[in-house]
Amino acid sequence: MDAPTKFRAMTTEPHPVYGYKAFYLGDFSFERDEYFAHIKWTTVAGKPASHTMDIGNFLRALMRDVGWGFFYGWVNFDNVFGTTNHYKTVDVFAGTYNANYKKANVDLLQNFPSEQVRVTFVEMLEDWTNDGFDPYAAPQETGTPYGRKNGSNLKAVRRVRQLAQRCVGLKDDLQMRTDGAGYPVNRAFADVPQDAPEIHPEPGFENEVHAFNLFAYLSRSDVIWNPSFTSVVKHSYMCPTTEEHILPIVHGNDRVEWFFQMSDEITWDCGDKITAEPRARVVMKAGDMAAMPADCRHQGYSPKRSMLLVWENGSPQVVYDILEGRAPVNPVSF
Ligand code: PHB
Ligand code: FE
Repeated sequence: MDAPTKFRAMTTEPHPVYGYKAFYLGDFSFERDEYFAHIKWTTVAGKPASHTMDIGNFLRALMRDVGWGFFYGWVNFDNVFGTTNHYKTVDVFAGTYNANYKKANVDLLQNFPSEQVRVTFVEMLEDWTNDGFDPYAAPQETGTPYGRKNGSNLKAVRRVRQLAQRCVGLKDDLQMRTDGAGYPVNRAFADVPQDAPEIHPEPGFENEVHAFNLFAYLSRSDVIWNPSFTSVVKHSYMCPTTEEHILPIVHGNDRVEWFFQMSDEITWDCGDKITAEPRARVVMKAGDMAAMPADCRHQGYSPKRSMLLVWENGSPQVVYDILEGRAPVNPVSF
C-alpha cells in the first residue's frame, strides 16, 4: 500500500466517445484519443499552446517517468515535453529545453511537489493503458496502444523496478530469474549460456564472496529500456538492462553516466541538454564503452535486443558538485 497522500489527480469524467479521462496539472492539461496524447498549456505570455504525441510513444515515456521516480535529471518525452527531477519537487515543462520553442515564446515550465506529479501521472498511465498493451514490453512482444478505452493492464503498469540491495543472488536479495519464476529466456537470447560460476568462499564468508552469470540474468529480462540494480556499492549502481527498438525518453543528464555495450549494437543520438541542438551520433558495438557527459541529452536505437550496462553515480551530492563547478561535466579529458 502506498502511504496516504494529500494530493489527488485532477480529472474529468471519461470522454463520451473515447472513454478516457482528461487530466489537469497546474496550467497543463492532458487528453487522449484513439491515436494521440494532446498536451495543452498557457504560455508565459498568456497564449494557448499545444503539443501532440503518438499515444504509444507517450505511454512508453510516461511508464519510465513513473517507474523510475522521475529518474536522474531530465526525462524528455520528446524534444518538447518532459520533466526535471529536483528530488523533492519536479518541473513539468513544454518547449523550455528547445531553442526554437523558447525563441517563439511558446514554452511553459511549472514546478510541483514530486508527489503531486506522481499521483497525476500514475492515474493517467493506469487510465490510458488498455488491456493487452504493455508499455515496458518490446513493440513485437505486446499488443496495440491504440483505440478506444478497452480495460486496463495494471499488472504491467504497476511493475516495480528490480533493485538489488547488494548483489543479485545474495541471501535476502534479488534472486536469479528462472522459468519457474516467470522469466523465460527471451527469443533474442536463446544462445546465451545459462551456466553459473563456481563459488568457493572460505567458511564464514559465504555471504560476502559472490558471483553470478549476468548474461544469463539479462537474457531473461521481460522488459526493455528499464535499468535495474544488479549490484550496489555505496553510490555506485550497476544498472544493466535489455534494449530493443527506441529508448522511449530522451534522457537529459544531471550527472555523468557510463555505458558498456555488453552485446549487439545501439546507436545513440546525443544533443545539447538545454537547446536540443544535435551534438553527436555514437555507434556502440559489443564491448564498447562510452560516457554521457552531464550536459547532454541522449536517446538510443537498438535494432536487435541487446544488453547494455548503465553505470550510475547515485550520489545525491554530485548534481550540486557539477552545478557549482567542483566536479567536471566530462568524466575524462583527453
Ligand atoms: C539512459 O538514459 O541513460 C538510459 C535509460 C534507460 C536505459 C538505458 C539508458 O535502458
Ligand atoms: Fe541517460
